[in-house]
Amino acid sequence: MIELRNISKIFAEKGKPSVTALRDVSLRVEKGEFLTLIGPSGCGKSTLLYILAGLEKATAGDLTLHDRAIAGPGPDRTIVFQDFVLYPWLTVRKNVAFGMKLGASRGKHRPPEIEARVQQLLKVVGLSRFENHYPYELSGGMKQRVAIARALALDPEVLLMDEPFGALDAQTRRIMQEELLRIWEATRKTIIFVTHSIEEAVFLSNRVLIITARPGQIKQQVRIDLPRPRDFDALRNDARFITHCGDMWASIKEEVQKSIETE
Ligand SMILES: Nc1ncnc2c1ncn2[C@@H]1O[C@H](COP(=O)(O)OP(=O)(O)OP(=O)(O)O)[C@@H](O)[C@H]1O
Ligand SMILES: [Mg+2]
Repeated sequence: MIELRNISKIFAEKGKPSVTALRDVSLRVEKGEFLTLIGPSGCGKSTLLYILAGLEKATAGDLTLHDRAIAGPGPDRTIVFQDFVLYPWLTVRKNVAFGMKLGASRGKHRPPEIEARVQQLLKVVGLSRFENHYPYELSGGMKQRVAIARALALDPEVLLMDEPFGALDAQTRRIMQEELLRIWEATRKTIIFVTHSIEEAVFLSNRVLIITARPGQIKQQVRIDLPRPRDFDALRNDARFITHCGDMWASIKEEVQKSIETE
């Protein structure tokens, strides 16, 4: 469904050394796949998601969604940012409804439908009681859950998630991982997910791409054929799960060391 051919990205600004964030990344993503990118800090993961979202342009190469070039942002793709951004002047409910309301002006959603969907999503992320609160009245983890609900509200075909659980406490994170899997299994959306957690990558994904130290390239692809539905408590003691985590750490560790040495 998504195809990237030889994508490279160079950031060049006057007076600063240029940075090659990505080099020659080629990739196909199947419809309904749960694909995760993992690699050292600064290796180009967010940059790749921005390019897929149409928020950054690749310096070279091309990318298509359903054989059409991705030229900019579109309602078929939404992104949950690493530094999630909520509209501070809107309540939780209005933040979640925001994109749908834009859609309503184009005749895509009707107001009662928006209200029902927002209520359902707030329930999923456990924030129904806070629907009329403003972002400054929420904790970091709660804000992140609003950002996730807002991305899901648009019902995109492709969900791009940049370390969406990074700021959550460990317990909420586990619940949100299970919730995301439940949503994904129910809707079969295509998810491209970024994380630094190997366990999270193995638990969630069909396929994990290990990205090299910058310039980011695909070092290795790992298929995770663990049966679904997955249950973390059962999996954590499963020999296949433990082997995947161990092998991945060995591969990623090398890249993390390289990236620290070259900084
Ligand atoms: N807008 C920009 N202008 C200049 N350089 C940029 C810009 N965005 C990213 N970079 C550079 O591109 C490289 C890749 O950054 P990116 O944010 O994609 O890394 P990442 O893999 O997401 O890292 P992290 O795991 O820390 O989030 C970094 O060296 C960064 O400094
Ligand atoms: Mg990033």
